[in-house]
Amino acid sequence: MGSANSTKLLEMKSITKYIYDEQGRGLVATGIKILDAVDFDLFAGEVHVIMGENGAGKSTLMNVLGGVIEPDEGEILINGEKERIRNTAEARNKGIGFIHQEMNLCSNLDIAHNMFLGREPHNRLGLSKTKKMNSETAQMLSKLGFNIDPRTKLKNLSTAMQQIVEITKVMSYHSKILIMDEPTATLTGREVDILFKLIRDLRDSNIGIIYISHRMEEIEDLGDRFSVLRDGKLVGVMSKSEYSRAECMKMMAGRVVNLMYKSTHVPTKDEVFRVEGIKIGENTKPFDFQINKGEVVSFGGLVGAGRTELAKSIFGARQYYGGSIFFEGREYKKPSVSKSIRLGISYLTEDRKIEGLVQQMDIKSNTSMCVLDQVSPHLVLKTRQEAALAQNAINRFSVVCLGVNHRTGTLSGGNQQKVCLGKWFATEPKLLILDEPTRGIDVNAKAQIYEVIDQAAKDGMAVMVITSDMHELIGISDRIYIMHEGNLVTEIADKREMEQENLIKYFLNSDEACESEA
Ligand SMILES: Nc1ncnc2c1ncn2[C@@H]1O[C@H](COP(=O)(O)OP(=O)(O)OP(=O)(O)O)[C@@H](O)[C@H]1O
Ligand SMILES: [Mg+2]
Repeated sequence: MGSANSTKLLEMKSITKYIYDEQGRGLVATGIKILDAVDFDLFAGEVHVIMGENGAGKSTLMNVLGGVIEPDEGEILINGEKERIRNTAEARNKGIGFIHQEMNLCSNLDIAHNMFLGREPHNRLGLSKTKKMNSETAQMLSKLGFNIDPRTKLKNLSTAMQQIVEITKVMSYHSKILIMDEPTATLTGREVDILFKLIRDLRDSNIGIIYISHRMEEIEDLGDRFSVLRDGKLVGVMSKSEYSRAECMKMMAGRVVNLMYKSTHVPTKDEVFRVEGIKIGENTKPFDFQINKGEVVSFGGLVGAGRTELAKSIFGARQYYGGSIFFEGREYKKPSVSKSIRLGISYLTEDRKIEGLVQQMDIKSNTSMCVLDQVSPHLVLKTRQEAALAQNAINRFSVVCLGVNHRTGTLSGGNQQKVCLGKWFATEPKLLILDEPTRGIDVNAKAQIYEVIDQAAKDGMAVMVITSDMHELIGISDRIYIMHEGNLVTEIADKREMEQENLIKYFLNSDEACESEA
């Protein structure tokens, strides 16, 4: 395992990449390098973790290796041979498999068709050989230890299984090097276990794996070696025995950072929001809950527990099956997104790629989108006000960017998330709903987001948080509601009862939990 096996699969030497402006001119003069002479190497049979804050350059470095972009300087050696990787097909042919954070699968196609997308075997009449695809797919999956029907539609698989299909597909190109950029961002505990077992099996079969994640526990569990990037530069490489979390966090930030949950707000009993008898599914049971002024109330549960459905229902982005909603003491009938925003209810979605940001537009336009009547009362855009709003968001969340005109599509994953947060805070809502607010956010920036949430509550906002991060759930909440399959399982209002084991019992809605409830 690890570097004991000393075949150097990959060497990236002094990789440098400049930022270019819209006309394709290098912004070298202003000294902006998003990668600055980065060295990186990988042995067969090891997991090499890349760590770094949001915007440090992790994805960019992998985009260079995966043929998505070409470096301006530096060279790449594979098995000791110098190689030029001009596009993604070349990367694939050289044995480099890239699993992006956002999966590239078609949910309406079955597993086999996804596996062979763009290279379907055809017979002489040009008809695709479905049987052949099915049997080969089944074979590939079973080689990795999964026995699933290749005719299953992707949308009927769990996220973990979809991820596994993606990996199987990438492996079917005989990849020797596997890049995984935040593969677990959308996975939960048990799903992560499935994925990790697969990763270990691949490592044992001598594949070299490059792994990027912000989840420290995972990284520590899986990594054989650790490279840390900061501001586009490599600041250190550690072996497993040299690794320490504190040291790593310091390297990432360039300073000592203390985590993390400081609560300075005092929740009140003044109700902002109340729901009576809401039914979020046809066959789910009605339940009540409320959120008060200055309170941070979280919803815990497993993925699929119905928390996002609940949030969308009360925000007016989805139909529900009965119940009444009260906002500031008055019944809020037939919620709709525009009404909600007008009233002072905001919702940060869990999926920024699809619902969160307009990727082609800049930070300025994105942050002002929901406050257009404030910024442009007579449809004349007040540019200066718009820019101020954006700058405010950038400062508040330390967004790594070139300024208010930076297109959001080219921001790093975590920084896109920060802009989304900025956009919703700009509306200064009375009820702020945050769905997985720190997904893809680096450990150090998380602390900052918790501070902003705390401050918001202090200013009197009612905050509703949906999170799958157990520490976060326990750390930031004044009260916790737990959901399971569309139903409310319990409410925990006592800080002393907010313990991991206790919560998990409710997450699974296991018998003992239900009995003790009764
Ligand atoms: N085409 C581009 N134009 C402008 N800036 C860019 C472009 N491509 C990347 N960047 C910038 O380069 C920096 C590095 O981005 P990268 O996506 O590599 O970060 P990352 O380490 O993967 O962060 P995260 O953890 O948030 O995913 C970011 O600040 C990003 O805004
Ligand atoms: Mg990234």
